[in-house]
Amino acid sequence: MSGTGDAVATASRPPHVVLVVAVAENGVIGQGGRLPWRLKSEMRHFRDVTWGRPVVVGRRTYESFARKPLPGRTNIVVTRDRALAIPGALVTTSVADALAAARGDALRRGVDEISVVGGADIYAQTLAVADRLVVTRVKLHPPGDTTFPRIDPKLWCEVERTDHAAGPDDEAAYSIHVYERLLSS
Ligand SMILES: NC(=O)c1ccc[n+]([C@@H]2O[C@H](COP(=O)([O-])OP(=O)(O)OC[C@H]3O[C@@H](n4cnc5c(N)ncnc54)[C@H](OP(=O)(O)O)[C@@H]3O)[C@@H](O)[C@H]2O)c1
Repeated sequence: MSGTGDAVATASRPPHVVLVVAVAENGVIGQGGRLPWRLKSEMRHFRDVTWGRPVVVGRRTYESFARKPLPGRTNIVVTRDRALAIPGALVTTSVADALAAARGDALRRGVDEISVVGGADIYAQTLAVADRLVVTRVKLHPPGDTTFPRIDPKLWCEVERTDHAAGPDDEAAYSIHVYERLLSS
């Protein structure tokens, strides 16, 4: 745990919007519609931080889940295709509608977080309203076609960091960082 003493956005009302992402050292998060690495232990972390929560996901990332909803979570898929229907998932046609549906679901579930789980397009449209970022930094430089932006230290304060050596089913070591939005003055 490493706090900087800066004021963080604890005053914003729950449910908080939390972006959950894994980023390589070169900013890459995806390649050809898939994750560009194999990190089994990090998948368990992803499951733990999103479990029991509404998850907002872009249609392309949803397809990378083998078109099966993530279990134990309300899957809210964002698409511009008004005809798309996905058994076991809620389909919305705007990011605003997805976040509104996620807020309602979080209140019904009695949880105080909405997880936004990508991909790049959806992160880009939700970063401005996020309260917290849970970022896995993967110690790799893979080729990729989708990236996550640099985290601006003027806007975000790192409040937690844990380091993880590569396990037997992990391609690389990684660290997990939690950032809270700094209160604007
Ligand atoms: N490393 C990580 O943590 C992580 C996490 C998630 C994803 N990824 C990777 O990221 C890549 C996918 O990211 P991506 O940016 O290509 O796609 P994406 O963000 O998963 O999905 C984009 C799709 O979302 C829909 N969409 C986006 N904005 C919308 C809006 N304002 N209103 C309505 N619908 C909207 C559109 O769907 P339609 O085309 O159906 O209209 C669009 O094509 C994959 O490689 C995936 O593996 C990595």
